[in-house]
Amino acid sequence: MNILLIGAGGREHALAWKMAKSHQCDQLYIAPGNPGTAMFGTNLQIAITDFEALKQAAIEHVIDMIVVGPEDPLVKGIYDFFSMDPLTAHINVIGPSTQAAQLEGSKAFSKHFMQRHQIPTASYAEFTLENYEQGKQYIAQHPLPIVLKADGLAAGKGVIIALTHSEALDSFAEMILNKQFGEASTKVVIEAFLTGIEVSVFALTDGKHYQIIGHAKDYKRIGEGDTGLNTGGMGCVSPVPFMDEVFMKKVEDRIIKPTINGIHKEGMEYKGFVFFGLMNQGGEPFVIEYNCRLGDPETEVILPRLQTDLVSLLAAADNGTLEDVNIEYHTAHFATVMAVSGGYPGSYKNNFVISGIDQAQALPDIDVFQAGTRFQDNEIVTNGGRVLAVTAQGSHLQEAVLKAKNGLSLIHFNGMYFRNDIGFEFS
Ligand code: AMP
Ligand code: GLY
Repeated sequence: MNILLIGAGGREHALAWKMAKSHQCDQLYIAPGNPGTAMFGTNLQIAITDFEALKQAAIEHVIDMIVVGPEDPLVKGIYDFFSMDPLTAHINVIGPSTQAAQLEGSKAFSKHFMQRHQIPTASYAEFTLENYEQGKQYIAQHPLPIVLKADGLAAGKGVIIALTHSEALDSFAEMILNKQFGEASTKVVIEAFLTGIEVSVFALTDGKHYQIIGHAKDYKRIGEGDTGLNTGGMGCVSPVPFMDEVFMKKVEDRIIKPTINGIHKEGMEYKGFVFFGLMNQGGEPFVIEYNCRLGDPETEVILPRLQTDLVSLLAAADNGTLEDVNIEYHTAHFATVMAVSGGYPGSYKNNFVISGIDQAQALPDIDVFQAGTRFQDNEIVTNGGRVLAVTAQGSHLQEAVLKAKNGLSLIHFNGMYFRNDIGFEFS
């Protein structure tokens, strides 16, 4: 099978690494990829939302399957684009239809969906310019903190957790009146704040059946002890200690099954990953959000932990045999620690030479997944806020974290920063 993978981050490096292990993978192409993905296939210099160019490349390289990493192409309709064109309809696109991608692309759509299917989530209301005054009243009587969400995609910045009513009212005005997030904030979801520990659960679905392929805890804040600004993710552990059978059964019965049944009953086409962003509130799971893709850096721990052949799983999602497959996990514990550019998630500089990747990679039980990197004059240089993720396995969580940090101690670039405390609450 010839595969085209779309994306350029650490998630895509991990996907390329995992898929290249499969005997079912013949040629692997990555658009646009990075120096990490180039070790497992051919990078194509095509932008992730340039569907016409992706179509030409898919035809030229006789692609059988397209695996989409990031949300942008999914929400912009890549699944429908390929399935509706007779020249590409035979290609298996791993992802939801444009309609189902609204589960990630519109917070209001996903909240309605959860309400229709009685899936536990924070209580909410939605507002636009038309009912702006009602929104102000809703905020004024709402307990604190108040969560405001731009309805559409806002590059991970569309969620505001307001600690006071005046802060919430200001953010509401920014979003609706000043169009802070453009089109994405013409509608705003206002919801109750959930307390607890967040966890990410990943399933693969064919639109009717599903298999759980892993779970992870992501460390989103830039500072140690979960302080400071939100980032794309600073590290992950898997498995997560509280994800025992009892909790997992609640997640399946109350969240995963009703979600997949809902997708099926409503006639939405969906052959791809479902990312359940959950809050464990005193042992009870609630949905914070759906994503229609794998997480980053969650992928950098769940794929190393997954023993089952990923390409076979994706093929099973396509041909309706997902129900019959057997998922196997490594018994080891996995941790990944992200090295980021100095200044991230604020402004930072690119183009610093990165040394030590090969030395870290040579250590036992370590994999280095490149995220924001590129080639320059035969060297690998920084090219983004999140630069690389070092994943390690150990016989317990703390050993895995320690090994990942040992790997990072061999890697250097100007301004490099990482969190030293990934997994801290489980030590
Ligand atoms: P999202 O863009 O929906 O992933 O939200 C970003 C982050 O905001 C989440 O990962 C949570 O940490 C936080 N968050 C979102 N919604 C809530 C909520 N209702 N209660 C508490 N935290 C939330
Ligand atoms: N790590 C969170 C995400 O991928 O959205």
